[in-house]
Amino acid sequence: MPTTQLPYQNPNLPVDERVQDLLARMTLSEKIGQTFQVWLQQGNHAEIAEQIRRGMVGSVLSNYHPDYRRPTVDEMNALQRAAVEETRLGIPFLHGRDIIHGHRTVFPLPLAMAASFDPALMEEACAIAAREAASASVHWVFSPMLDVARDPRWGRCVEGAGEDTYLGEQMAAAAVRGYQGSDLADPQRVLACAKHFIGYGSAEGGRDYDTGEISENTLRNVYLPPYRAAVEAGVGSMMSAFQDLNGEPLSGSARYLDGLLRGELGFDGFIVSDWMSVLELVHHRVAADGREAARLGFNAGVDMDMISGLYVEHLEALIDSGEVRMQRLDDAVRLILTAKFRLGLFEHPYTDPALGATVQCSQQHLAAARRAAARCMVLLKNEGGLLPLENLPASVAIIGPLAEARSTLLGTWSFDGQPEETPSVLEALREALNGTEIITAPGSMTDEMLAAAQRAGLVVLVVGESEWRNGENHNVTRLSLPDGQEALVEQVCALGRPVVLVVLAGRPLQITRPAACAGAVLWAWHPGSMGAPAIADVLLGKTEPGGRLPMTFPRSDGQVPLYYNFKSSGKRFDLVYRPTPEGYRHLERYVDGRSDPLYPFGYGLGYTSFEYHDLDVQANENGARVTAQVTNTGERAGECVAQLYIQDCVASVTRPVRELKGFQRALLQPGETRTLSFDLGFEELSFYNAEGKRVVEPGQFKVWVGPDCRAEIEGTFFVKGVS
Ligand code: NOJ
Repeated sequence: MPTTQLPYQNPNLPVDERVQDLLARMTLSEKIGQTFQVWLQQGNHAEIAEQIRRGMVGSVLSNYHPDYRRPTVDEMNALQRAAVEETRLGIPFLHGRDIIHGHRTVFPLPLAMAASFDPALMEEACAIAAREAASASVHWVFSPMLDVARDPRWGRCVEGAGEDTYLGEQMAAAAVRGYQGSDLADPQRVLACAKHFIGYGSAEGGRDYDTGEISENTLRNVYLPPYRAAVEAGVGSMMSAFQDLNGEPLSGSARYLDGLLRGELGFDGFIVSDWMSVLELVHHRVAADGREAARLGFNAGVDMDMISGLYVEHLEALIDSGEVRMQRLDDAVRLILTAKFRLGLFEHPYTDPALGATVQCSQQHLAAARRAAARCMVLLKNEGGLLPLENLPASVAIIGPLAEARSTLLGTWSFDGQPEETPSVLEALREALNGTEIITAPGSMTDEMLAAAQRAGLVVLVVGESEWRNGENHNVTRLSLPDGQEALVEQVCALGRPVVLVVLAGRPLQITRPAACAGAVLWAWHPGSMGAPAIADVLLGKTEPGGRLPMTFPRSDGQVPLYYNFKSSGKRFDLVYRPTPEGYRHLERYVDGRSDPLYPFGYGLGYTSFEYHDLDVQANENGARVTAQVTNTGERAGECVAQLYIQDCVASVTRPVRELKGFQRALLQPGETRTLSFDLGFEELSFYNAEGKRVVEPGQFKVWVGPDCRAEIEGTFFVKGVS
C-alpha cells in the first residue's frame, strides 16, 4: 500500500472523483478482474486468495452447498486482507450471498411476506436481515426477487410477491429501503440486488429456466413495474435472468438490459449475471463459444460475470480486437467501484468477528420474526368460529407429517437459519397448551395418527410441502398436497373430531377436498425461525392471522394459470366478479369443472368481521380521492386489510377487469367505523400504451373497495388524461 494518501483513498472526496482517480490508475487486467465474481467453497480459500492477490476478483460469492459450511468472519477477513493489503491498489472485494428472507433470524418466505400486505413489515425484516448479514461480513444480498408469478407450478413463485404488480411494486421498494437504508455506508446496511431481469416468472408450464413469451403490453404493464419501483427506490444492483424471453436470452440481451433497464428505467447501478448465465448463452445457442458469449453478455450490459470466468478469459482479446470497446469496460468498472465506495468498503473493509454474537438472533430480531410470521398467515376457513381455540377440550392431538418439522419451517433459501434452534409446531403448541393433554403420534404412521386423533377432543393436523418441494427448479405437475396427505386429511376428518388443518407451504396448492372437510384451514407458509410459536399465537387467539392471499388458489390444477387481473375478452368474462341472480354458472369456462378460484386474490379471514360501505369518489386534478367506510361488525378487535381495485373502462389497448391500486391495514374495535381514503393519480391510473408510452387516457374509471378482489362497493369517476 502506498504511504501517501491518493485521491481515491480520501473519504472526503465525492465518490465520482474517487472512482475516476482509481480507474485512471488501473491496468487493463485489473479492470477486467473487477468484472469477475468467484465462487468460494470450503476447499478453495487458498486458491481464491491467490486469484485475489493477482487482482482477478471483483466479488466473492459464498453460496450454499450441502457439503460446505458457511465461511467464518475470520476467513472472510483473511481473504479481504489479500485484496486490501496485498494488491497494488488495495481494492476490496464485494462479498455476495443469497440472503433471501432473513439471515440467522429467518423470516417468512418472500411470498408469505407479501401476504402481509404490509410494506413496512417487509422493510423491517430486510433491515434486520441486512444487520445480521453485515455482521457476518456480507456486503451484498441477492434479493429482492421481483418476478411476477402467475403459475404456482413454478417453484420460484415462493421467492417473489406473487401475481400482483402493484403489491409487487410496494414490496420491491420496501425491500430495497430495508436492505440499503438511506446511506449504504451505514455498516448495518447492505447492497440489494433486484432479480431476475426480466419476466423470469413466465417460464412455460411453470418449468424453471424455460422459455418465456410475453407480449410487449404484458411485459410493460405486468412484469416491469416492480423493477421500476426498485430502480426508483435506488436499488444498487440488478441480476439478469437465465431465460430466453421472446427469443433473447436475457443475459445477452442489449434490448432488455441496455435499452429497457438502463435506457428507459434509468437504472444506474451495476448488472451481475445469474449463475453462469453468460456461459449459458452458448447453451441457448445464441453464441458459438465462450468468447462470443462473453462479448454478447458484456456488450448487452452485464457488468459482472457470476462464476463462469468468461470475462477474465476473453475480455482482453475482445478489447484488443475492438469487439468490446474500452469505454464499455470503463463504464462497467466505474459502476462496480461506485458500489464499493458507497458501501464504505475502502474505509471499513473488515468485519468485527465479535459482532455476530450480539446481533444475530437477538431477542428483538426473534420477536420481530414472530410478529411477522403471524401477520403473514392466511386463515382460509373457519367454520363455526372454531378458531381461535378458546374452550379447549381435555386433550388435543397434534399430528401430521410436518408436526415435528424444523427445516421446513425455515423454508427454501435459508442457508444461515438454524433448524436445531427452530421450535417445531408440536413443541410450540405443547408449551402454549400447557395444562392440556397433548396426544402425539411419534413416527407418524397413518394408523398411529388416526389412533391419536380418535383419542382427542380436537385435532391439529400439520401437513404441506417440505422445504425442498419449492424454490429454484423445484416445480410440480400436481398442485394437490404431496402424495398421501389429502387422503390423510380426509381420514382424520372422517373421525368426526374438530380438525384444524395447518398447512406449511411455499406456493398456492389445490386443496379443494381437504378444505371441504377440515373445520379450519390456516395457511402458515414456511414461516421462519419463529413460525411455530406464531402458529400457536394465532391458533390460541393471542394474535390474529394477518395475511391475505398474494396469489389465487385454484380449484383444480387445470385452471392454472389463474389470476384475478385477467382481461375481459369479447364474452364479458369480467362479470365473473359480479354475483348475479344466476350465480356464476353461466360464466363457466370448462365443461368439466368450475372456473372460479377456490380462494381469490386478496382473500383471508380474521377473527372478526368487517363491512365496507359508503364509498365516495371525488375526482380532482390528478385523478380522484376515494373514501370508503369500514365497520367492525364482530365481537373482537381486529385488523381489516382494505383493498382498492380499479378498472379503466375503455382504453386504447385491453386492460384488466380489475387491478389492485391501494391497500391499507386498520385496527378497529368492535362496532367501530373508520373512514379510509385512497388517492389515485398518475402512478395508479397510468399504463403503457401500444407505443410503450406511460399514459392516463381520458375517460371513465370504476373503483371498488373491499376485503379482496371481489370487493363489491363501487364508484366511478372520469379523468382528463395525461400523455
Ligand atoms: C441462481 C439463482 O437463480 C439466483 O437467484 C441466485 O441469487 C444465484 N444462483 C446465486 O446463488
